[in-house]
Amino acid sequence: MEGLRLNSVIRFLFLFVFFVYSHKLLQVNASEPVLELTKGFEAKPDSSFNSFQPLLTDPNGNFSFGFLRINGSRLSLAVTHPNLTDPLWVFDPTRSASWSHKTKLIFNGSLVITDPSSRVEWSTHTNGDRLVLRNDSNLQVVKSSSSSVEWESFDFPRNTLVENQNFTSAMALVSSNGLYSMRLGSDFIGLYAKVREDSDSDSQQFYYKRSALQAKARVKDGSGPILARINPNGYLGMYQIGNTPIDVEKFSSFQKPVNGLLILRLESDGNLRGYLWDGSQWALNYEAIHQTCDLPNPCGPYSLCTPGSGCSCLNNSTVIGECSNAATPVDFCGGEKMTEIRRGGVEMPFKELVDHKTTSSLGECEEMCVEDCKCFGSVYNNGSGFCYLVNYPVRTMLGVADPGKMGYFKVRESVGKKKSRVGLTVGMSVIAVIALVLTVAMVYVGFRIWSREKRDLEEDNGLSPGPYKNLGSDSFRSVEMSRR
Ligand SMILES: *[C@@H]1O[C@H](CO)[C@@H](O)[C@H](O)[C@H]1NC(C)=O
Ligand SMILES: *[C@@H]1O[C@H](CO)[C@@H](O)[C@H](O)[C@H]1NC(C)=O
Ligand SMILES: *[C@@H]1O[C@H](CO)[C@@H](O)[C@H](O)[C@H]1NC(C)=O
Ligand SMILES: *[C@@H]1O[C@H](CO)[C@@H](O)[C@H](O)[C@H]1NC(C)=O
Ligand SMILES: *[C@@H]1O[C@H](CO)[C@@H](O)[C@H](O)[C@H]1NC(C)=O
Ligand SMILES: *[C@@H]1O[C@H](CO)[C@@H](O)[C@H](O)[C@H]1NC(C)=O
Ligand SMILES: *[C@@H]1O[C@H](CO)[C@@H](O)[C@H](O)[C@H]1NC(C)=O
Ligand SMILES: *[C@@H]1O[C@H](CO)[C@@H](O)[C@H](O)[C@H]1NC(C)=O
Ligand SMILES: *[C@@H]1O[C@H](CO)[C@@H](O)[C@H](O)[C@H]1NC(C)=O
Ligand SMILES: *[C@@H]1O[C@H](CO)[C@@H](O)[C@H](O)[C@H]1NC(C)=O
Repeated sequence: MEGLRLNSVIRFLFLFVFFVYSHKLLQVNASEPVLELTKGFEAKPDSSFNSFQPLLTDPNGNFSFGFLRINGSRLSLAVTHPNLTDPLWVFDPTRSASWSHKTKLIFNGSLVITDPSSRVEWSTHTNGDRLVLRNDSNLQVVKSSSSSVEWESFDFPRNTLVENQNFTSAMALVSSNGLYSMRLGSDFIGLYAKVREDSDSDSQQFYYKRSALQAKARVKDGSGPILARINPNGYLGMYQIGNTPIDVEKFSSFQKPVNGLLILRLESDGNLRGYLWDGSQWALNYEAIHQTCDLPNPCGPYSLCTPGSGCSCLNNSTVIGECSNAATPVDFCGGEKMTEIRRGGVEMPFKELVDHKTTSSLGECEEMCVEDCKCFGSVYNNGSGFCYLVNYPVRTMLGVADPGKMGYFKVRESVGKKKSRVGLTVGMSVIAVIALVLTVAMVYVGFRIWSREKRDLEEDNGLSPGPYKNLGSDSFRSVEMSRR
């Protein structure tokens, strides 16, 4: 009996040492990125990397492709540059795998990442020979024989467009917080804000439009969609046919001979900015929106942005950033209790891009909103008679000097409700903690019983403790934990 138990302890120690050792080997190799990945490549995330684990690098050593750690325990595939905090490219930014040894990346002609614990399986669905990272950060699956490109990351931009990368009307740039997007129209570049959770394209706020000036070439009907591309000569060009631009949006480095790479990013404040790598840093080179109040939501919900004087609240409260203390409802159709704010000096933001109605009086304009439970507010200009309806939760409105521009807004009433919700949340948390403690206790007792039974069984027939794989993963986990 004693001998058997000693035997399994030794066996366990052996396996433990083996896993520590193989773990180390993996780590050594994984930290040395290579210039290409060929068929048969396999990699797993290594717990010793706390932000990025490089696997592949470009010929100049500027960019890396590898595992990006997000939120501590999640994993994305990304292309990064050491001096940019935000990656240049991310594989399917809507999903992530777990940073654990269960997650595996292989290259077998396709780049495939699998994570059974998060039910993630992504693939490039290709049959190439090599995976390479170009000196412009483009990740490509190529066929050796014909050197044809089977798949490239440039076809799937995230929030960044790189010099010479073609941005087509089938693509979108999406800011890393998921709130803003850039898309092409028939003859313009548009920026759009997500104004509610279930945002379909109809209910997006259109906040910036760059129409093609068509100085060098005109847009021809029926000649297909346009595309946009950063030209190394320092501009964002729009093209329809060939290489003659229908529009040239100049960067600061326009026609200045610079030796560096240009990128364009849709950032988390909704602005579109260009940067130039000058060999030592990414210098700001272009900004689509120059004034804070022209950004999509600079002051938060139920606020006012006044050029020259900044943010304030629609109800004159001084706690800017918390101009509404209630969770904003989806609409007012469920009989939500509400109060109303009426004030002058308010204008609809981006009104050139928003539909309006013409009414003969302020009352008529307000009435249209009052009667529609999906309406959150209205803005009336008593000079022009234009009436704008806000059909999404109120965001930052534009403050103007003209008191004849009248705003009407519905606000969810919340004071009493909020307190009871806090009480409820605390109550729920206490219950959750108790439930957790009970569960842990039950699992522990269950485990004790199970392991006693199991030991009895083992002592009966001398089988080794548990399947090999389980033991392996347990020791793996303990190694990972001791490394933190
Ligand atoms: C690491 O690389 C060495 C040679 O460079 C190789 O012999 C070894 O098998 C590799 N280890 C792993 C885990 O890939
Ligand atoms: C990371 O955490 C933030 C906030 O907790 C969350 O909004 C986001 O979805 C998380 N990202 C991933 C990839 O899990
Ligand atoms: C760029 O990143 C590298 C590596 O992290 C660092 O050594 C270098 O100082 C950075 N350069 C600048 C200008 O930040
Ligand atoms: C590569 O591996 C994936 C997942 O195991 C598999 O579905 C796919 O068929 C393989 N592709 C090739 C070209 O072998
Ligand atoms: C990038 O690679 C291309 C060929 O793939 C080459 O013509 C170009 O000079 C390289 N640029 C830099 C900055 O190394
Ligand atoms: C972008 O499109 C142009 C014209 O449509 C083409 O000539 C060029 O090769 C494309 N560039 C890339 C990087 O695919
Ligand atoms: C890439 O590397 C080259 C050569 O090392 C350097 O001149 C260039 O500035 C680098 N570009 C970026 C974007 O890091
Ligand atoms: C806020 O102040 C402005 C200017 O003093 C005034 O016109 C407006 O009625 C006030 N609004 C509210 C909701 O108190
Ligand atoms: C304005 O709204 C905020 C948030 O709902 C509230 O705390 C404040 O009391 C309100 N102020 C006025 C003057 O109504
Ligand atoms: C619009 O409203 C302002 C302020 O109430 C008033 O002074 C002005 O006469 C009005 N203009 C028209 C055309 O009604």
